[in-house]
Formats: sequence, C-alpha cells, structure tokens
Amino acid sequence: MSRLTQINEAQPTGEISSHREDLRGRNNVVTPKQAAERGIPWTREPPEDKKCKFCGRTLEHEGLVFAGRVITWRADPRRCTCERAQAYWARHDKLEAERKETEAEEQRRAALQQRVDRLLGRSGIKKRFQRRTFPNFITDTPGRKKNYEIAKEYADNFIDHREKGEGLYIEGTNGTGKTHLAAAIALQLISQGIPVICKTSNDLLLDIRKSFDDEGGSEAQVLGIYKAVDLLIIDDLGKERCSEWSMSTLYSILNDRYEDMKPTIVTTNYNTDDLVEELTPKGADNTKIVAIVSRLKETSTVMSMVWEDIRGREETQE
Ligand SMILES: Nc1ncnc2c1ncn2[C@@H]1O[C@H](COP(=O)(O)OP(=O)(O)OP(=O)(O)O)[C@@H](O)[C@H]1O
Ligand SMILES: [Mg+2]
Ligand SMILES: [Zn+2]
Repeated sequence: MSRLTQINEAQPTGEISSHREDLRGRNNVVTPKQAAERGIPWTREPPEDKKCKFCGRTLEHEGLVFAGRVITWRADPRRCTCERAQAYWARHDKLEAERKETEAEEQRRAALQQRVDRLLGRSGIKKRFQRRTFPNFITDTPGRKKNYEIAKEYADNFIDHREKGEGLYIEGTNGTGKTHLAAAIALQLISQGIPVICKTSNDLLLDIRKSFDDEGGSEAQVLGIYKAVDLLIIDDLGKERCSEWSMSTLYSILNDRYEDMKPTIVTTNYNTDDLVEELTPKGADNTKIVAIVSRLKETSTVMSMVWEDIRGREETQE
C-alpha cells in the first residue's frame, strides 16, 4: 500500500497541535529517507533524487512536515557540499543577491520618480533646457574643456559621487555655460532613470509656496521630495528674493540633504563669501546661511566658469 492511501484513510484530527510541535521541534524538514525511517507518511511522491553535476553524489529533496506528514517537497534538491558545488553556489547566490538589489533599486527609483512627476511635473527640466546636453557643449577653450570634463566625469560616475554625498558648486559670471552643464548632468542621469530635480532657486521656493494652498498638506510632500531626490540641482542660487522664510526653507532642504549625505549641485554668480551676503535678508542673523554655504563647499567640487558672456556672441532662445 502506498503512503498516499494510508493518508487518505487517516483521520484529520489534532492537526494544529501536532503542527506546532513540529515547528517547535525544528525537525519539520525531512528527506524521503528520513521520512521513511521515522514513519512519516507523505501526500505526494517526492521528486526523483538528482545527482551533483560536479561529483555525482546523490542529492535528495527535502519535504515539509505538517500535521505529522510530509505535505510538500522542495522543487530543488539539497545542495551538494563538494568543493566545486560550493563554489558554484557561492557565485550563484552572489549573482542572485545582486539581481535582487538591482531590482529593489529600480523599484525605489521608479517610485521616487513617480512622486517627482506627480508633485512637480517632469523633473523641473524646462523645454529650453532640453538642448543643453553634453554633446551640444562646445569645448573650444581650456576653461570650457576643463569644466566640461569635471561635469562629464560627475555624470558618468554619479553612483560613486552619490555614495559619498559629493556635489558641485558651479560659480561664475553670466552666460558661461553653468546652467548648460548642470542641465547636461540632469539630462544624462534622467535618461538613466535616476530621479533628479533641476530648478532655479526661485522656482523651487515658488513650488513650495504654491503647495501651501493645496489641499492635503502637499507642502510637506514637496519639501520631502526636494530632500529625498537622488540629485537636487539648484540653478542660480542667490538670485531669489530673500526673506526669512526662503532662507530657512533653503536651509532646511540643504541641511537635511547634507545630513542624509545626498548630493546637491548649485550654479551661482557668487563665490561662497558673496553668496552668504546675497542670501542673508537685510539685518538678519546669517549663522544658518554661513552653515549651508560652508556645507555646500565642504561636499562640492568647485567649478569656476569666469569668461566672456556667450550671449553677447550668439543669439539664444531664453
Ligand atoms: N560652451 C558652450 N557650448 C554651447 N553652448 C553654450 C556654451 N556655453 C554657453 N552656451 C549656451 O549659452 C547660453 C547661456 O548659457 P548658460 O545659460 O548655461 O549660462 P550661465 O552660465 O548659466 O549664465 P547665468 O549666470 O546668466 O545663468 C545657453 O543657451 C547655453 O546653451
Ligand atoms: Mg544659469
Ligand atoms: Zn558535489
């Protein structure tokens, strides 16, 4: 008589308590051989034993014991412990862990990007920025070439820079390509699916102010997304209308990003000393501003783009 028939005839009483015992005893996994030895019946026949493809050893399947019988068998047999099998499984597990990590990272990015899109529209990159790509940046002078290379290296190795919380402080005079290179970084990363927000400090503050009036307290959500996004690019820092509110809002965003080791890129017409002055409202205490700017400097590579305004030479569609 097969074990299957034995079970069909058995009375299903006391199932729960014996399951608990099995779990408590931690001996709820058996091979067909062990099950036979201990007289544990099974409902379904176990899969056929496999042989290790490296050493030829027989590999049994494990079954799960529930209510005094084997209710299911693992689809894969036990792993062999011979040297080559161990090496094989170590590699297999590593690749599998990496695959899972990549999958989780992709899900995280997609979820974040959805929040960005919902709250701010497409990453804040305005139409006129779309042509500001790396291939469209002319590197006809040593200054342009050098800064192009810093920006390109940053975009190409963003994952490393992000790990270290490293950003860029792009300072310089008008029309030298600061926004162009910042937008080029944003466009490259966005095309790779990395959540980036690129906005002028004015628009950034405006978004938060607008969200005050929205229902459902979306102000905190907008602020939250500026703090959470993988890369925040604040274009033209120092040009916003300065008030106590804008100062403390900027402080809150930049400070949280700093503490979270999240990178930020700024473009500005001011060097760090002048920026402190520009950002401080008249007569206000500048401690917070000094703190933000020194943190930006601490975490950023400084790109200095000081030369003739390209807008004087070529017409631009701003
Ligand atoms: N090296 C370059 N190659 C191609 N286009 C450039 C280059 N430098 C600047 N431009 C173009 O010139 C215009 C002005 O550049 P951009 O807006 O980047 O200047 P900026 O340094 O940000 O100036 P501002 O300080 O006034 O904001 C843009 O249309 C930009 O694409
Ligand atoms: Mg600019
Ligand atoms: Zn083996």
